[in-house]
Amino acid sequence: MSTLLKRTHMCGQLNLRSAGEEVTLNGWVAKQRSLGGLIFVDLRDKTGIVQITFDDTIGEELFKQAEALRSEYVIGVRGIVKERSAKNPNIPTGEIEVFARELVVYAEAETPPIYVKDDDNVDENLRLKYRYLDLRKLKMQKNLRFRHSIAKITRDYFDEQGFTEIETPVLIKSTPEGARDYLVPSRVNPGRFYALPQSPQLFKQLLMVSGCDRYMQIAKCFRDEDLRADRQPEFTQIDLEMSFVDQDDVIAVQEGFMKRLFKDLFDQELPTPFPRLTYDEAMERYGSDKPDTRFGFELKCLNDVVCGTEFKVFADALAAGGDVRGICIDQGSGKFSRKDIDKLTEQTKHYGAKGLVWIRVEENELKSSVNKFFSQEQLREIADVFGASAGDLILIAADRSKVVFDSLGFLRRHIAGILGLLDDTRYNFLWVTDFPMFEKDEETGQLKAMHHPFTNPKAEDIPLLDTEPEKVKADAYDIVLNGVELGGGSIRIHDRKLQAKMFSVLNLTEEECQEKFGFLLEAFKYGTPPHGGLAYGLDRLVMLLAGEQSIREVMAFPKNQNAQCMVCEAPGTVEEAQLEELGITLR
Ligand code: AMO
Ligand code: AMP
Repeated sequence: MSTLLKRTHMCGQLNLRSAGEEVTLNGWVAKQRSLGGLIFVDLRDKTGIVQITFDDTIGEELFKQAEALRSEYVIGVRGIVKERSAKNPNIPTGEIEVFARELVVYAEAETPPIYVKDDDNVDENLRLKYRYLDLRKLKMQKNLRFRHSIAKITRDYFDEQGFTEIETPVLIKSTPEGARDYLVPSRVNPGRFYALPQSPQLFKQLLMVSGCDRYMQIAKCFRDEDLRADRQPEFTQIDLEMSFVDQDDVIAVQEGFMKRLFKDLFDQELPTPFPRLTYDEAMERYGSDKPDTRFGFELKCLNDVVCGTEFKVFADALAAGGDVRGICIDQGSGKFSRKDIDKLTEQTKHYGAKGLVWIRVEENELKSSVNKFFSQEQLREIADVFGASAGDLILIAADRSKVVFDSLGFLRRHIAGILGLLDDTRYNFLWVTDFPMFEKDEETGQLKAMHHPFTNPKAEDIPLLDTEPEKVKADAYDIVLNGVELGGGSIRIHDRKLQAKMFSVLNLTEEECQEKFGFLLEAFKYGTPPHGGLAYGLDRLVMLLAGEQSIREVMAFPKNQNAQCMVCEAPGTVEEAQLEELGITLR
């Protein structure tokens, strides 16, 4: 048993001001270099790295031990802080080193399967398998700490605003967020299953019926959906609900929250109120309900300018009720070769586009992939819609509206990325409001709630529920940051008759409603306050504020692309006896 050298300082804390002090440090060997009479060890703990220097004054035996140190050995060192002669400006402790007087090796370590080094380009699955080593990286430690700070500020802020954090159950019935459920079989109730919550939605609404008035929770949510950079099957929401409020009240509390985060985290004054765009405006201008407004390239509709054209692609799209729209890249003509545009076209095909028409605006001429169908005057007319001038590049898509929006929405952000316009020091918040109440399920063609079936339709649109439900807008809002949907919420229906109407538009029978949400409808009989709320994706919030590209960088143990935990190898198989107890047989 090695003795414990009681720590007096953390590695990252030390600087010139500590010069002359005796300190005791504990940590991991990041690197060891032996230069004859001198041994240098970079010692790492969660706060940083500091250089330890051993010379022969430490005694023969300890010097030998220092010589034998390898990466990731766990050691304790007592020594004197000294100013370095050769300073290292690249690390915060680079002005000093610690001259070792005592060394204890707590644990040896095998050669680690991944280097513990920030931005080491190692395969992500390997990083996730050895996550405990990956998390030793200072960047990952910083991210974990940053996430903790955000959670703490969140709790403080909402507490000050009169919110109470209340835990809601995890073993529940299905929630209406539209993804697939994770199911948990019940042993005590054979043949029955719990669902893990996709969100605390129904319980937070019950809490409003309970008179809790202002609820919040940092809550784990579970959704069995396909993974992306900003999606995990298991993620965390900052979830909240408020009674006796309208949309403006909910929004005001959120803007205060963001202001507070920026003040506490970055000592920055975030300007509020945030801009608001209706869903329709967002789609028209950006082709997306989560627009990135850090750059222009706004979409323009060309339907009026190109109607009557002989160009079949455009004519067919318009005849089928679709759209012809485009974007203009300022001074983009010289930046994208023919080959580059072909590549963009290929990439846009993932969004359903069948092609892209391009127009290059030159001093005396407009060049285009569709020169033979359009006169110079017609091309000029198109260019004028964008206010284009010499050097600009126009890209046009024609198709069903959804395909055109998705394609150009992708393209404008993709091109901004290529041109280096995604400035991650800028934070462009905005609210998208007035979402459609319903959307068509692409597979079944059935109407489904775009947010969820408890969302209030706009009062003036209620008459349309019977006649043109697709036109009904909702009191639903999303908060968007730099093109990422950070959170979403709505004012809820608290009128039972309206709720029944909503279910009937959604084609849910009385029995289905009872089966799915009977407990909420029952609760609503006994006095329901007007209420509304919102939930943020905490992982996304941390990702964006930390300047990361993926939420996996700000989660301790995320799942991989196949929804597996590489550390514990879940999901796993279970023993026959366990299945039997649950009354389950596998096909
Ligand atoms: P919604 O489904 O929009 O609303 O979710 C709210 C926010 O949660 C985040 N989010 C995710 N983050 C990581 N991985 C996922 N798979 C994932 N899915 C969603 C997003 C999203 O904006 N109950 C409603 C909220 C309400 O109406 O109050 C809800 O869950 O940032
Ligand atoms: P084609 O007649 O198929 O050779 O296409 C002529 C041009 O129209 C090419 O530049 C195609 O990329 C483009 N194009 C084809 N389909 C579409 C579409 N749906 N929207 C915009 N451009 C298209």
